Amino acid sequence: MQTRSALVAAGKVYQSAGISQRVKQISISAIKEMPLIASKIGDCVSLGQGIPSFPTPSHIVETVCQVMREDLHSGKYTLGPGMPELREAVARSLSGQLGRAVDPDTEICITVGAMEALLASILTVVERGDEVILPSPNYASHIEQVLLAEGIPVFVPLQVKDWQLSIEAIRRAITPRTKALILCNPHNPTGANFSEAALRELADLAQAHELFVISDETYDFLVYDSQPHFSLTLIPELKERLIATFSFSKKYAMTGWRVGYVYSSAALLDHIMKIHDAAAICAPSLSQHAALAALRGPQDCVSDICAALAARRDLACQRLDRMADFFDYVKPQGAYYLMARYKVPGVDSMEVALRMLREARVVSIPGGAFGPGGENHIRLSFGGTEAEINEAFDRIERWLTSNPFAAGV
Ligand SMILES: Cc1ncc(COP(=O)(O)O)c(C=O)c1O
Repeated sequence: MQTRSALVAAGKVYQSAGISQRVKQISISAIKEMPLIASKIGDCVSLGQGIPSFPTPSHIVETVCQVMREDLHSGKYTLGPGMPELREAVARSLSGQLGRAVDPDTEICITVGAMEALLASILTVVERGDEVILPSPNYASHIEQVLLAEGIPVFVPLQVKDWQLSIEAIRRAITPRTKALILCNPHNPTGANFSEAALRELADLAQAHELFVISDETYDFLVYDSQPHFSLTLIPELKERLIATFSFSKKYAMTGWRVGYVYSSAALLDHIMKIHDAAAICAPSLSQHAALAALRGPQDCVSDICAALAARRDLACQRLDRMADFFDYVKPQGAYYLMARYKVPGVDSMEVALRMLREARVVSIPGGAFGPGGENHIRLSFGGTEAEINEAFDRIERWLTSNPFAAGV
């Protein structure tokens, strides 16, 4: 299934003569398109793309400035898998979390954000006609990346009451053509923090059916209310079938630096590296210096970000509670998104998001962009400041009192 393109919905016509089928069938994710449309409208407040408001911590910026001034070679390509000292720092930090050795030379590749890590991983294991299980709703780019690899996304609904995994539904979705499953935990777009029990069952299923598991760990640092967080990387038996992708973007407020990494067995990484080389050569060298400074520096910037986002989550939930006639939602347990289900029957999520954008000047992401399980929802990000969150909800409240869906509610 293909996600709906907001640009198509907004009237953009694609010229497709001569364009490959593989590219014709994908779209720019609505997460990136809605801000593009908003930039043309002007004066919009965003609950859309997941860009945290925080600046990159100053010790990271200062280190990079110093490296630029003092190291004449800092503007050059690094080794393909990344600077050795960065891979060592990554391996040390990961091995501390996993309680087992991680080889910086054969198991780690520094990438252009988690996004490149994900694409290289998916292209490595998915080929034309392979079925790939995705929970639904799910991060929109996973869907486009599977389509780009000419795989077939198989959407397995999350449980709507709490957005947790239904292992039984995943088991039923497995066929002889199933090649892989992709999971992001904590989960974008729902904010779910999947239970250890479910993740262990998922790992058992993957092993029993010889599936690859691509585990998107972009939000591994961000769970609320002192809950435990469990990662598939903690299951050693899964190691030969697991590819884990990590990001510096959200943890260290470095979304624009474009740096992340992939962790997998050496056997898989050898192949992932071929795509990384063909696509990127190496991650930007200055961004690798920034990532190294992030890992070596004080970690209180991470706890500060988590504390601020916990307060913003509570604020977003309080504001939604005031609109209980229009929306319900499951309180996010991790990441910084929530899926607000609108109580307007018969209106698709693209229409709700586009009208909210044009009429209330608030950016949200239509839930349908996250697969069929996202329909009847809009995704709201609470990565912005409290002032932005309040302004956005003020505008939504005013808009709703003008009764935009008069017949429906
Ligand atoms: C689930 C998920 N995976 C991957 C990414 C991309 O991360 P990066 O900025 O490291 O490419 C994002 C960004 O929002 C995300 O939400």
